[in-house]
Amino acid sequence: MPEADDNEAKNFFVDVPQQAEAFQLKGSQSLDWGMKNRLARIFNPVSGRTVMLAFDHGYFQGPTTGLERIDITILPLAPYADTLMLTRGILRSIVPPSSQKAVVLRVTGGASILKELSNEEIAVDIEDAIRLNVCAMAVQVFIGGEYEKQSIGNMTRMIDLGTRYGIPTLAVTAVGKDMKRDARYFRLATRLCAELGAHYLKTYYVPEGFETVTAACPVPIVIAGGKKIAELDALTMAYRAIQEGAAGVDMGRNIFQAEAPLAMIQAVRAVVHQNEKPEKALELYRSLKNKQK
Ligand code: R5P
Repeated sequence: MPEADDNEAKNFFVDVPQQAEAFQLKGSQSLDWGMKNRLARIFNPVSGRTVMLAFDHGYFQGPTTGLERIDITILPLAPYADTLMLTRGILRSIVPPSSQKAVVLRVTGGASILKELSNEEIAVDIEDAIRLNVCAMAVQVFIGGEYEKQSIGNMTRMIDLGTRYGIPTLAVTAVGKDMKRDARYFRLATRLCAELGAHYLKTYYVPEGFETVTAACPVPIVIAGGKKIAELDALTMAYRAIQEGAAGVDMGRNIFQAEAPLAMIQAVRAVVHQNEKPEKALELYRSLKNKQK
């Protein structure tokens, strides 16, 4: 028998409307709770941005420089990342299950640097992504590439499966062989993926017209770092991308191939989350680097 409950009317706050917090991430207002919750673990709800530490390169190019021993070189960087971007092989074999970091799992593969890169397939079952408690699944999309249609099919399939279980899909726009890396190309690639349902996009920064890429894309864009460049140049690229509408970085080589990776990831964080100017971020990098000596 239920207990007699004589709550006073004041405990019901009858005159106070129930609070409804707005979900601020671009284009995500209409998503379901689980999807939003996972995105909120990737994109810091205060800054609305993310520092994704990318170390999935081995899935097509083997143990590239800086990733020979992920346990030694990458795990110490994890506390400064919002998100770890990796493969399930590395997740299971090296990342401790006690980790609290959001995981973005690469779920396509099947081509190596020795062959046609765009010839990828879905390489992870949705059930395994759920089992691994991931916050998003990353799918490579080769717009203009030889296997363009197949890669778009991989993406839409994972979007459908992820939507069933509340897991967002990150579309990673890879540059097709004959396409120029310019704003026009990235407007096409990012918009196409977003229209087909990708929850956020990874692309490259271009110095001319990047703001038109982010403006035309209805969901967040993060930029890849690309090949290793000088620290100031990498910080400048990240700064410009953020100021021109990017919602963060998915950076690998420019962090783990830096002379002082721990210092570099903290400098990148300052640029992404605090709008730190590149020169100031470089000062931070240098002072942290000196302290680590
Ligand atoms: C490429 O192999 C992966 O998708 C990387 O996650 C991506 O390119 C970002 O890494 P990086 O900053 O080294 O380009």
